[in-house]
Amino acid sequence: MSYVLEMKEITKSFPGVKALQNVNFSVLPGEIHCLIGANGAGKSTLMKILSGVYEMDEGSILLYGKEVKITSPADSKENGIATIYQELSLVEELSLAENIYLGNYLNPKGGFIKWNELNNQAKDLFSLLGLSLSPNLLVKEVSMGLKQMTEIAKALSTNCKIIVMDEPSTALSGEEINKLFDVIRLLKKQGYTIIYISHKLDELYTIGDRVTVLRNGKWVVTEELKNVSQSELIEHIIGRKIEKQTKQYNLEQKEEFLKVSNLTNKNIKNVSFTVGKGETIGLYGLVGSGRTELLRAIYGADKLIDGEIFINGIKKKITSPKNAVNEGMGLVPENRKTEGIIANLSIEANAFLPSLNKYSKSRFLQQTKIGEMMKQSIEKLKIKAPDPKTEIRNLSGGNQQKVIISKWLIHQSKLLLFDEPTQGIDVGSKDEIYKIMRDLASQGTSIVVASSEIDELLAICDRVLVMFEGRVVKEFLSPVSQKSEILNSAVSGS
Ligand SMILES: Nc1ncnc2c1ncn2[C@@H]1O[C@H](COP(=O)(O)OP(=O)(O)OP(=O)(O)O)[C@@H](O)[C@H]1O
Ligand SMILES: [Mg+2]
Repeated sequence: MSYVLEMKEITKSFPGVKALQNVNFSVLPGEIHCLIGANGAGKSTLMKILSGVYEMDEGSILLYGKEVKITSPADSKENGIATIYQELSLVEELSLAENIYLGNYLNPKGGFIKWNELNNQAKDLFSLLGLSLSPNLLVKEVSMGLKQMTEIAKALSTNCKIIVMDEPSTALSGEEINKLFDVIRLLKKQGYTIIYISHKLDELYTIGDRVTVLRNGKWVVTEELKNVSQSELIEHIIGRKIEKQTKQYNLEQKEEFLKVSNLTNKNIKNVSFTVGKGETIGLYGLVGSGRTELLRAIYGADKLIDGEIFINGIKKKITSPKNAVNEGMGLVPENRKTEGIIANLSIEANAFLPSLNKYSKSRFLQQTKIGEMMKQSIEKLKIKAPDPKTEIRNLSGGNQQKVIISKWLIHQSKLLLFDEPTQGIDVGSKDEIYKIMRDLASQGTSIVVASSEIDELLAICDRVLVMFEGRVVKEFLSPVSQKSEILNSAVSGS
């Protein structure tokens, strides 16, 4: 069998971490090869070696049977490999066309950039992807889905043969994901080879030909998707069977903790509801229905035009996240890279940021206490990191998310607002996070969670509120038995 790409016996260590150990990864021409594994398994690292971002310690890379040396992103590009990274790399203030040709147009032949030509080329690339899109739009003006498409157009502009997509669907809505799949199928038809990373296992069966599973930096299996079931994949990913837990409803009336009344701003309209102590409320709705905006409004991150917020029956003026944190709230935001973490601070610094006051005595930090608590959190949340002093940006995506959650556990927040809490989290950790949320609730923490995954809400929520065009249009008690009604309500708005 002739492979287009073979990565052989790849080994890579970072200080304190063996990220990859003797990994073999072979890709057939024209296939969609899915690469999966738990958070921190080594998927992105393997692909960064292929794209010349990291140098491997040992191993070899063969393209069309011939060994190649890839020691820089330029080498990778020259060898026909294009990579779309987990964290998109577009410049928000530039146009789509400028982003596509960024790095290529800086040294134009003859010294002048031919804008008309570039714009036309960008337009052609978009129409190749089945999109009629103005290349003059700024990145910040377009949806997440179109940003992803722009990254793909950028990849195509490099005359690549192999396209690596690292969790491209994570931040996309259902409809955008379908569009992405259409584009991937189109690319396959045109002869491109695609390496596709995702935590959403059902996606693999829709789009993939073969799958490779990594676990703890090691190769576990490569198999045709049609020959392997989802539960087998889960076992390969986490190394054991998963025990599904189900929501235990606590139907007794709970003492009210939060009440919002008539909340209104430019994105939400007349939203009123209560959350009891130890109660978990789900917010479901289509993209743009106002879920994120509602959480932000409660948290003081977006201004209110009208409405009131009561905590323990007392009216509170919450005009900033600082106020909200002082009132015992914590937010796990949707966009962790820009809102959730401070990239070049350590895990510990990120985790203790809101709690520093609590753990300092006459201006001195209680280092021992902090160290102990951090250790507990790392164990409890199974955060995979060599050391609490590791810079958070060196953690895998899912592990960064766990640090954000640990921040509010340490702060002992009374009300947690979660926005897409398991975005980019692997199947095993997902269940762990649900368990943590259930435990928090049973200890009296109030939770409001916005999610586009209905099954996630059904696994953890006592009640589900459906949002539509900024309003809460319906409330579902004991939601588990009403999945299709909830889905319908989100679409119809009634
Ligand atoms: N630059 C780095 N410095 C130190 N450690 C790193 C660096 N990059 C990755 N690691 C570590 O290598 C391991 C593999 O990380 P990698 O990002 O490849 O995981 P992943 O499989 O892509 O996970 P996720 O699904 O969470 O994105 C992790 O333990 C991670 O913390
Ligand atoms: Mg990754």
